[in-house]
Amino acid sequence: RRLPLATKTHPMSTMAADEEYVGNVKRQLAKIFEISLKETVPDEPDIEPLIAACTAKFGDYQCNNAMGLWSKIKGKQTPFKGPPSVGQAIMKNLPPSEMIESCSVAGPGFVNIVLSKNWIAQNLQSMLINGIDTWAPRLPFKTAVVDFSSPNIAKEMHVGHLRSTIIGDTLARMLEFSHVEVLRRNHVGDWGTQFGMLIEYLFEKFPNWEEVTEAAVGDLQAFYKASKLRFDSDPVFKERAQQAVVRLQGGEPKYRKAWAQICEISRNEFHKVYQRLGVHLEEKGESFYNPFIPRVLEELNEKGLIEESQGARVIKVEGVNIPLIVVKSDGGYNYASTDLAALWYRLNKEKAAWIIYVTDVGQDQHFQMVFKAAKRAGWIPADDTLYPKTTHVGFGLVLGDDGRRFRTRSSEVVRLVDLLDEAKTRSKAAILERETSKDWPEEEVEKTAEAVGYGAVKYADLKNNRLTNYTFNFDQMLSDKGNTAVYLLYAHARICSIIRKSGKDIEELKKIGKIVLDHPDERALGLHLLQFSEVVEEACNNLLPNVLCEYLYNLSEIFTKKFYSNCQVVGSPEETSRLLLCEATATVMRKCFYLLGIVPVYKI
Ligand code: ARG
Repeated sequence: RRLPLATKTHPMSTMAADEEYVGNVKRQLAKIFEISLKETVPDEPDIEPLIAACTAKFGDYQCNNAMGLWSKIKGKQTPFKGPPSVGQAIMKNLPPSEMIESCSVAGPGFVNIVLSKNWIAQNLQSMLINGIDTWAPRLPFKTAVVDFSSPNIAKEMHVGHLRSTIIGDTLARMLEFSHVEVLRRNHVGDWGTQFGMLIEYLFEKFPNWEEVTEAAVGDLQAFYKASKLRFDSDPVFKERAQQAVVRLQGGEPKYRKAWAQICEISRNEFHKVYQRLGVHLEEKGESFYNPFIPRVLEELNEKGLIEESQGARVIKVEGVNIPLIVVKSDGGYNYASTDLAALWYRLNKEKAAWIIYVTDVGQDQHFQMVFKAAKRAGWIPADDTLYPKTTHVGFGLVLGDDGRRFRTRSSEVVRLVDLLDEAKTRSKAAILERETSKDWPEEEVEKTAEAVGYGAVKYADLKNNRLTNYTFNFDQMLSDKGNTAVYLLYAHARICSIIRKSGKDIEELKKIGKIVLDHPDERALGLHLLQFSEVVEEACNNLLPNVLCEYLYNLSEIFTKKFYSNCQVVGSPEETSRLLLCEATATVMRKCFYLLGIVPVYKI
C-alpha cells in the first residue's frame, strides 16, 4: 500500500544538529543519555532515552530507562543484577558534559540529574543576547494546516466559534514559533441548500437587490431566520427556494452574484471580530472545495470504498455503526463530502504533514469518520504516529453561571461582539480606578483596556484543558488575583517597572553583565525559564495550550513568591545579575503572551 509522504517520527530519533537544541534541556539531555544507553546495552541500539523534568529533591530531571531496559535484557546473558545496576551503568557511561552537575541513582533505577547552575546561567545569558526565538523547538515536519474559527455565512459568530478562534490561533502561533509553516484556514460554511431560501427571501424583500447596500441588509441573521420560517411553512416558497439552489449551483449569474454579496456582508462582520482579537486567517470556505468533490469521490469509488445505502452513497468505517454519507439520496453533497475534498486538497495540493481541525467535541464523530475513510483510501497512514496525520482538536462548552449553556438574560445566543465590548468596558473601568493611571492619555487607557479585556477573555478559555466545559464569568476573569490574564499582565508590568526604576540601561547590561544563580530561588527561577522550550514543544505535540498557561502562571509565581520575595534586586551586590534575571523573566513572559495571542502591557 502506498503511503504518501509517510515519514518515521520517533520523537527523539529525529536528531538534528546540535544548535537546533539550543535552550531545550530535555533534548540535550536525551542526546547525552543516548550515548550512554548505546554503551550500556550495545545489543539494544534503538532505545529512546526517557527524560522527564521532575520536582524530586534529588534532581531537576530524571532518566527512566533502567526499568524498561531490565525487562528486555533479564534472562539473557547480562552483567546486570537488576534495574538499579542498569541505572548505575547508565550513569557511569555518561560522556562528560558541562550541563550536568551531578547524578545519582535512586529507587528502582531512576537516574536523577542535577543541572549545573553555571550552564543554566549561560543559556539564559545567550537567550538574552541572541533573542528568545533561538529557543524555539524544532518539530519533525514542515507544513501544517490549522482549520479553525470557521463560522457560517449569514449566521452570527457565537461563543463556540470564539473558542475555536482563540484555541486555533494559539496553536497556529505555537507551531509557527516552532518553525512550522502554518496554513491558517477558515473553513467558512458558505455553501449548501440554505442559500437557496436566503437568496429567494432577499429577492422578495429587496426587488432591486442589485442596488441594495450592506447597511440596508444589516442583520443577515434575522433574514436567515425569517427565510427558514417561510421555507418550513410555505410550500410555494419552498419550491422556489429549491429552484434557487439549482440555479445557484448551476452558476446563474444573478444567483451567484447575490450569493457573493451575502458572503461579503458576513465576511466583513467576521473580520471585525478577527481584528479585535488580533487573529489572522485565510478563508477557504466550503465553496472553495466544492469543485473538487466529484473527482475525489471518483477516486474513492475506484478504490472500492463507496457503497449504496438507502439511496445514498456512503463509506463504511471501522468501529462506527453508521456509515459516512458522502452523497445524499437527493444527489447533493454534504458536510462530509466537502471535508473529504478539503482533506484531499490539503494533502495533495498543500502538502500538509499535519492537519488540525478545531471545533467543539460534538463534531468528533464526524471527523473520526472522515479520518478513517482517509485511512481506508491510503491517503494517510493508519498509525497516528506517522505523517501525514490528522487530528481533531475538540473543545467543551462555555457555560453560564447557572451551569447551563452560556446565554444572554433573554436566553439568546451570546453575540461575540457584545461579549468583547463588555470585557473592554469592564477592564477600562478597573484601569480608571487605579491611582497610577489617572494621568494616562485617553489612547493609552483604550489600548490597555483592550489588551487586558480581550486578554482576559482569551486566557480564561485557554487556561482550561480544552476538552472540559468552562464557566464564563467576567468578575473572575477580570480579577487581578489568582490565575488570570490580569494578574499575569500586571506581574509583567511590575517586572518592567523594576527594571525601569533601577535606572540601568538593560541593553548595556545584557552585553557586559553576568548572571549568577547562587541563591536557591535564583536557581529555581533560572531553571524554570530554561524549561520554556520543552513546554512549548509539549504543548505543540499534544495541542494543549493550557500546558503553556500553566507554565506561565508558575513562572509568575516563582518570580513573585520566591525570587522577588527573597532576593533583593535594586541596591544589592547582585543587582546586575538580578536585573538580567528580571529581564529574562519579562522576555519569556512576553513570548508566552504572544503565543497565547495576548498583548502585553508595560505600565499599570
Ligand atoms: N462551519 C462549521 C461550524 O460552524 C465548522 C467547520 C469546521 N471545519 C471543517 N473542516 N469541517 O460548525
